[in-house]
Amino acid sequence: MSTTAPTTDTHIITVQTEADQHKIEVEPGITLRQALRRHGHSPHNAVTDIANCGGRGHCGLCVVEIVEGAPPPTQALDSTLSGMGVGRLSCLVTVDHDMTVRL
Ligand code: FES
Repeated sequence: MSTTAPTTDTHIITVQTEADQHKIEVEPGITLRQALRRHGHSPHNAVTDIANCGGRGHCGLCVVEIVEGAPPPTQALDSTLSGMGVGRLSCLVTVDHDMTVRL
């Protein structure tokens, strides 16, 4: 488990996996998908890590569960999946506050 101390210009994403829970510090305004990938995580599996839309919100293959701090959906596909309880499209979630994500 690694922890990064927050600064006033960053947000903390708590990442929960089957193996552990740790925190990553990210700059505000990037997408959750970008934040996860920059810190060695992926919302994708081995296949969808190669075959995805590149974060354009079209493929629906970057779903994550936001346990705490989920912002309201701003786009139709993300809203639909969220309403169905499937999860959130990490490429359509802008990190503008702290949140907890389960992969
Ligand atoms: S990467 Fe395709 S919808 Fe997010």
